[in-house]
Amino acid sequence: MIGNLNHVAIVVPDLTAAADVYRKTLGADVSEPIDLPDHGVTTIFVNLPNTKIELLHPLGEGSPIAKFLETNPSGGMHHICYEVDDIRAARDHLVAEGARVLGDGEPRPGAHDKPVLFLHPKDFCGTLVEIEQV
Ligand code: CO
Repeated sequence: MIGNLNHVAIVVPDLTAAADVYRKTLGADVSEPIDLPDHGVTTIFVNLPNTKIELLHPLGEGSPIAKFLETNPSGGMHHICYEVDDIRAARDHLVAEGARVLGDGEPRPGAHDKPVLFLHPKDFCGTLVEIEQV
């Protein structure tokens, strides 16, 4: 069912320092920071030949990743995102398989304005999984 790995998201305490690590130390193609107020994050995209890394930092009050940063003050891997062709069909399959979809189960526009859903980490080897319709 799942297709390509769309991105790996890493929450970081300092976006400038994280961008330097990816741009200078690792020699990657790194975007400027982009504020996504609807998502409560500022993000930097690291464009790799076969996938992306998203560096995330909380934006504004009530950011969904603020707690993660409190628990992991030096940052850490937050989620991985797999591509699917049809997100509602994928959701129905996952639910039938016993997986838990977070929230109300209705896909919402993600950071790339494509519909996404998040799946419970306890059902996926301890990893928060995002699925994105591409
Ligand atoms: Co994501």
